[in-house]
Amino acid sequence: MTSPQRAPGGFPVVGIIGGGQLARMCAAPAAELAITLSVLAEAPDAAAAQVIPSAPVGDYTDVETVRAWARECDVVTFDHEHVPADVLAALAADGVTLHPSPDALHFAQDKLAMRERMTAIGVACPAWAPARTAADVEAFGAEHGWPVIAKTPRGGYDGKGVRVVNRPEDVADWLDLAAQQDGTTGPLADGILLEEKVDFVRELAVLIARSPMGQAAAWPVVETVQTDGICTEVLAPAPGLDPDLAAVVTEAGLRIAESLSVTGVFAIEMFEVTDPGTGAPAYVVNELAMRPHNSGHWSMDGAVTGQFEQHLRAVLDLPLGSPTPRAPFTVMANVLGGDHPELYPAYRHVMARDPELKVHLYGKGVRPGRKIGHVNLTGTDLADLRERAGHAADYLTGVITE
Ligand SMILES: Nc1ncnc2c1ncn2[C@@H]1O[C@H](COP(=O)(O)OP(=O)(O)O)[C@@H](O)[C@H]1O
Ligand SMILES: [Mg+2]
Repeated sequence: MTSPQRAPGGFPVVGIIGGGQLARMCAAPAAELAITLSVLAEAPDAAAAQVIPSAPVGDYTDVETVRAWARECDVVTFDHEHVPADVLAALAADGVTLHPSPDALHFAQDKLAMRERMTAIGVACPAWAPARTAADVEAFGAEHGWPVIAKTPRGGYDGKGVRVVNRPEDVADWLDLAAQQDGTTGPLADGILLEEKVDFVRELAVLIARSPMGQAAAWPVVETVQTDGICTEVLAPAPGLDPDLAAVVTEAGLRIAESLSVTGVFAIEMFEVTDPGTGAPAYVVNELAMRPHNSGHWSMDGAVTGQFEQHLRAVLDLPLGSPTPRAPFTVMANVLGGDHPELYPAYRHVMARDPELKVHLYGKGVRPGRKIGHVNLTGTDLADLRERAGHAADYLTGVITE
């Protein structure tokens, strides 16, 4: 294993487990700050491995592989939430500095544990229950109304692991798996998570950075737009958000970060709802992510400090940067893989059409529906920004040709 090349002058090495786009997007701010990154990558051509010189390929589920790699790093952080508990425990036992800590990360890895903890600390959640049998599902649906939402507590992302369920048979396969995994560490070992289907006004996210010394900074609350369970668009800040609700959800985010001792960038996905009693806007928490997050990609071009720079500052316990927006609105549109694999020719068109457009592609192979990049536009006219960002994303995907 070649050692990461440290910058002279006492600069640190930050290790990132996982070589996806989140690790890749740390590369530019790391270069600016002379911080060296070392990525434990899934493959030599992983998104981050293309741009970060120290990117040994290794299996993040193999304790010895991860231990050997981590020895060269001053701090270790994560591109994804799938590192197994035994690997995290071995690193912690070796004295490796992990941000977030395994104790905090648990609540982003396991949606059942997260629901229990949120309920315990008094954070509003959808009605929820674990289920092991068809009778459990039947009883939950009878109490909360059909359809219900079923989730695999571990391992899901981009709507994989989330189902709309109209009858217990719709999750018969998951219940079978849960029975098989009982007593193991499998994703369904504790059953499946059932939630009431929330009749939300829209989806919001609050993004926070928190450092080990306890400094915290929050970006403005954003609106996220999901299509088929995948985030397609983010509006920063959430347009027309009730100022009281904005303050309440930001305060809730800071409180959750503090109470779980989260370190690094931390995202909370929420649903905006209407309080049935008062008719006032309110929120319930959907899920937690303890890493830079898709809902924060806008900040790369739209805020004084982008989330990837802020994550590096937070995990190194450096003072945090200002999260203040640079303009009234930033719109982020995700570029999803389409039918045509050649992306570069599209640059000529989108760049000529819109010189203000900021394109971020991840160096990932095109597969339909896969997140392969995003675009950002910053300005004052929200409708115009949405139209232009959407056009550029669709053109890069290939769903439109002019
Ligand atoms: N309880 C719920 N009620 C209504 N919609 C939901 C609920 N839970 C999830 N969804 C929808 O499914 C999407 C994905 O669910 P989420 O739990 O965030 O899974 P993932 O880990 O795949 O992001 C959410 O963004 C939301 O659009
Ligand atoms: Mg989600």
